[in-house]
Amino acid sequence: MMGATVIMACRSKERAEKAMQKIRDEFQVEKEKRTPVICDTESLSLEFMELDLSSFKSVRGFIEAYKSSGRALHVLVCNAGVALVPFTKTEDGFEVMLQVNYLSHFIMIAHLLPIMRKSGEDCRIVLVSSETHRYCNFDLNKINYSGDPEKFGRSDYYGRSKLYQIMQMHCMHRRLEKSNISVNSLHPGLVDTEISRSFQDYRLLTTFMGISKAFGLMKTPIDGALPIINAVVNPDLKGVGGVYFKSLEGGYSTAEARDETKQEALWKKTLELLKNEILEDQIHGLEGKM
Ligand SMILES: NC(=O)c1ccc[n+]([C@@H]2O[C@H](COP(=O)([O-])OP(=O)(O)OC[C@H]3O[C@@H](n4cnc5c(N)ncnc54)[C@H](OP(=O)(O)O)[C@@H]3O)[C@@H](O)[C@H]2O)c1
Repeated sequence: MMGATVIMACRSKERAEKAMQKIRDEFQVEKEKRTPVICDTESLSLEFMELDLSSFKSVRGFIEAYKSSGRALHVLVCNAGVALVPFTKTEDGFEVMLQVNYLSHFIMIAHLLPIMRKSGEDCRIVLVSSETHRYCNFDLNKINYSGDPEKFGRSDYYGRSKLYQIMQMHCMHRRLEKSNISVNSLHPGLVDTEISRSFQDYRLLTTFMGISKAFGLMKTPIDGALPIINAVVNPDLKGVGGVYFKSLEGGYSTAEARDETKQEALWKKTLELLKNEILEDQIHGLEGKM
């Protein structure tokens, strides 16, 4: 609504189109209210592109389509995610939360970074993480779960995927500090979205969420989007990177998330896991050598 062209990279065209229609309708309402900072164009520049983060083939297809569109890229919001999914392996052999929440975004960033480097000043990457990163184990030997599906720790592995995003953000910040790109991570809050669809059987958590909602402790999706929008458009954040926003003002992730040795070990491990997806050229780009 501030005039950017927004590409909605989603796995379902139907759901994306519904969401886009809702955004268009909301734009008309905001225009009628003469809300400040809303652009004065007739319609919004919103587009759908197909992307299924649980498939590297789809991720490659999205990257190729984006590259061949010849577009610049000023902002990349890695928001899509799944939570507490029962043990599932993707077609690429990875546990699904690891792949959707972390690995696929990592690949996209690695491949799209060269475009961002050429897209002018103040480009931003935002990794939507979660406070659940506090409640998990960090064990790179078990980064890709391969044990008994019945013993799979769904909340542990969800938390891990969110911890990796914060660690990745710190690794990237060190590498991009002197570039035109800043990278931050954030927790959107406890938000009343569809996040719980994959853990309806998790009674304790659904009860907690139900009570939170009943007492008005859950944010609306719009309020949950605010920290993301803030990280993307707030002019005061120009050049600010390496921050985990627990609220609009900032905040602290865990000491483990901020542990540089562990962050770099994760970085190395990730590049090993993704050796077929991220080649020498992209590694050079990630390491700031091009
Ligand atoms: N809600 C909360 O309280 C909360 C708290 C902390 C962090 N977060 C984080 O916030 C982010 C957004 O979650 P949400 O709360 O908005 O949940 P949501 O309503 O379930 O939305 C998740 C989005 O991710 C997309 N997605 C899931 N799997 C995908 C895949 N394989 N490929 C492409 N897109 C996929 C979904 O697409 P479809 O529409 O096609 O399903 C949906 O648009 C997540 O990263 C989550 O971890 C949420």
